[in-house]
Amino acid sequence: MRVLAIETSCDDTSFAIVEDKDNMIICKEMVAFHQVELHSEYGGVVPELASREHLEQFVPVLYELCHRVTGTYELDVLMQDIDLIAVTHEPWLPWSLLIWRTWALVLANRFDIPCQYVNHLDGHLFSYFLDRKKLEFNQAVVLSVSGWHTNVSLLRSDTSRHVYADKEGRVVWHYFVENIATTRDDAVGEAFDKISRMLWGPYPWWLRISQKASRYDNNTVQKKYPFAIHQFKRTLLDDSYDFSFSGMKSQAHNFIRHYKKELNLSDDELLPEDLIYYLSYQFQEAVADILIWRVLQIIADNVVIDTVALVGGVSANLRLREKLQETLDRQDRKLSFYIPTSFEYCTDNAAMIGAAALVVGGV
Ligand code: KG4
Ligand code: ZN
Repeated sequence: MRVLAIETSCDDTSFAIVEDKDNMIICKEMVAFHQVELHSEYGGVVPELASREHLEQFVPVLYELCHRVTGTYELDVLMQDIDLIAVTHEPWLPWSLLIWRTWALVLANRFDIPCQYVNHLDGHLFSYFLDRKKLEFNQAVVLSVSGWHTNVSLLRSDTSRHVYADKEGRVVWHYFVENIATTRDDAVGEAFDKISRMLWGPYPWWLRISQKASRYDNNTVQKKYPFAIHQFKRTLLDDSYDFSFSGMKSQAHNFIRHYKKELNLSDDELLPEDLIYYLSYQFQEAVADILIWRVLQIIADNVVIDTVALVGGVSANLRLREKLQETLDRQDRKLSFYIPTSFEYCTDNAAMIGAAALVVGGV
């Protein structure tokens, strides 16, 4: 089964060809246009500009994909091998989604191919299936962390419910998903974005917080700034598995204010680089601990869990990956750990929408 997948829920215009073959879900080709430049001067994604840009990018991105896959710019050639069009239908920016759902339906009608709507979060949830042999597990706990959401889901194969079949009647993989935690306020990625903006700006900030954190040197900081003793609190709600990250912003704000006072800096001045490294490092460690402690708690409460997966934009964070892997290796229980096979599959991308369409079917 071959899927033309489309993802445009926010500021990326992304097309992919995804297929399930020999028990694998493979992304054959993906083309994406990122709008980072367009929104940079505003400090965040402007929904109206994002949707207008999606309209601009539709033809070039689709034709680029067509050329890469077929060697021609003939859509007929590309579409003759496509069994299904999968498009993100929710959640996030309504106009961006509407434009693409409309285009997907136009393509589906023109080429007489079924069109399936896929939830963006299901895309992230199954992104680690891409380019891998079908994974065997009892139950997986999936930590899905991005700029908009922070979710934990339990995933189990539900062999009794093979309800989706492809055109030839072959059973499509089916999984049962139970969402057990979310964030009550900010998402993890949002906290990364807001704190890096407080520390130095400008958009996009995310790549740099991990880069700054990696330059932190404890000796230098202790020698030059003996007053730098602040650690972010690791707050875990105890009435459910949910998360809360909004407190991280206030803590960062207070730390920055405190250090500026110590150094007689005005509000407009930036902290010295070493202190920026220090706070980036402290913040990143605290976030990783909070996420990991929650995963450990869920694993302890569910003896059947044998697999852990980390997905979403923040799963690109190397320190979080490393810390989670080390923690799982130290457990008495044998736990398999998966992350998406490519950085491209962590942040928003069309391949994951194709994977979700193949794995769970749509709505
Ligand atoms: O999944 P995604 O592309 O979009 C949403 O669905 O939100 O995730 C984007 C988020 C941003 O908030 C960004 O700060 C975060 O992923 N992100 C990272 C890293 N790379 C991207 N966060 C921490 N460390 C990274 N290396
Ligand atoms: Zn996303």
